[in-house]
Amino acid sequence: MTKTDWRIGVAGLGTVGAGLLNFLSERPDFAPAGGRASVTGVSARSRSRPRPFDISNLPWFDDPVALAASPDNDLFVELIGGSDGPAKAAVEAALNLGKPVVTANKALIAEHGAELAALAEAKGAPLLFEAAVMGGTPAVKMVREALVGDEVKSVAGILNGTCNYILTEMEAGGRAFADVLAEAQRLGYAEADPTMDVGGFDAAHKISILAALAFGCAPHYAAAEIEGIDQVALLDIQLAKDLGYKIKLIASADRSPEGVLVRVHPSLVAQNHPLAQAGGALNALFIESARVGRIFVQGPGAGSGPTAAAVAADIADVMTGAQRPVFQKPATTLSPFTPVDPAKSMSRAYLRFLVKDEPGVIAAVSETLAEAGVSIESFLQKPVENAEGVPIVLTTHAVAESVLTTAIDRIAGLPAVLERPRLLRIARI
Ligand SMILES: NC(=O)c1ccc[n+]([C@@H]2O[C@H](COP(=O)([O-])OP(=O)(O)OC[C@H]3O[C@@H](n4cnc5c(N)ncnc54)[C@H](OP(=O)(O)O)[C@@H]3O)[C@@H](O)[C@H]2O)c1
Repeated sequence: MTKTDWRIGVAGLGTVGAGLLNFLSERPDFAPAGGRASVTGVSARSRSRPRPFDISNLPWFDDPVALAASPDNDLFVELIGGSDGPAKAAVEAALNLGKPVVTANKALIAEHGAELAALAEAKGAPLLFEAAVMGGTPAVKMVREALVGDEVKSVAGILNGTCNYILTEMEAGGRAFADVLAEAQRLGYAEADPTMDVGGFDAAHKISILAALAFGCAPHYAAAEIEGIDQVALLDIQLAKDLGYKIKLIASADRSPEGVLVRVHPSLVAQNHPLAQAGGALNALFIESARVGRIFVQGPGAGSGPTAAAVAADIADVMTGAQRPVFQKPATTLSPFTPVDPAKSMSRAYLRFLVKDEPGVIAAVSETLAEAGVSIESFLQKPVENAEGVPIVLTTHAVAESVLTTAIDRIAGLPAVLERPRLLRIARI
């Protein structure tokens, strides 16, 4: 007999938890398969904290693991966050009992996804995480389910709204990174400790999950190459604009016969590319596949309402009874993640040098690049008033990262070069 009434335990009553409780109290019968979803237990750190909804009638659990194991709920929703600690312990407790789990926790799935998938599948319990990537904008189900009949070659996206907001504001207002970050923190767009966002780690969690879903391998966060936006200078944003590009934090996953390359970098994106058009706090994803071709999706990647909508969609899937492997294939058959050596990866590059304003400098830089095997595509020199040196900017044709690094090391040693050259990749999309 099909189960109709679902009792849900919710651990974590912050931004996403609040959105979910509000939604379920307004629309308990939202699931397309019919039936009702009602919250029968909650857990958070502080019971007395004021919340935007009434929890006085809901059974309270100090310990989220006890809530996960409680026989008074048959679906556990984890909205605490963090790759380890109470979130992981609670998810494991629920799965060990064969209880379906829905989570928005990208850190948990990116870092422990393979072992949790193995546990979930061994116990026959769904483990769903649509909200973990791009919040309410569909990404996980699209890659895992809608594209299963295709062969995804690459996935690249803007997966962190805070970084996108900061870069957009830097360009629009001609303001420095630190200035915009401080404002974003005041407005609540950035955390008090912004490291996970601006350091690129949050985007790396999300792209590690997408890589696993797209390529049928186990997620392997530790293999991601990560650079954040904290070193992006306003000058680079302005020079990139003169060259026809915007600087975006691009998280990408590429598959080749050698393996998978997962990276997060501030990258130059051609101004007319759809990813360059996604401004403010928007997220966007660009997928290239063998049969469908190019796919682009854009939308909010965070926020109480949008993220809770994705959690609710997963709850609806559980209520429908649909069950499939946690990743693209059963956990026991996921391919091992074979990382590609980033030094061998080929990309076009943007290089900025700060040089003394004297004859022969440009020739010396060009010769050093040519000797190292780097071929110049375009060149821009801009006088900057009252500056200590003159910035010169080059874009290169596609070149191996190792060749580029050698060339940069040599140029940094030239007497007329005032600081280590700045390297930014030009996105391969
Ligand atoms: N915010 C978004 O827009 C968004 C988007 C996509 C995915 N996510 C993911 O969703 C999850 C939740 O994010 P959020 O923004 O809602 O976080 P949040 O606002 O910081 O809320 C976290 C909640 O977890 C509770 N909590 C913390 N430690 C706990 C513990 N030891 N035991 C029980 N409860 C504990 C907190 O309790 P108190 O309220 O008592 O402090 C709070 O209610 C994270 O994995 C996040 O990455 C968030």
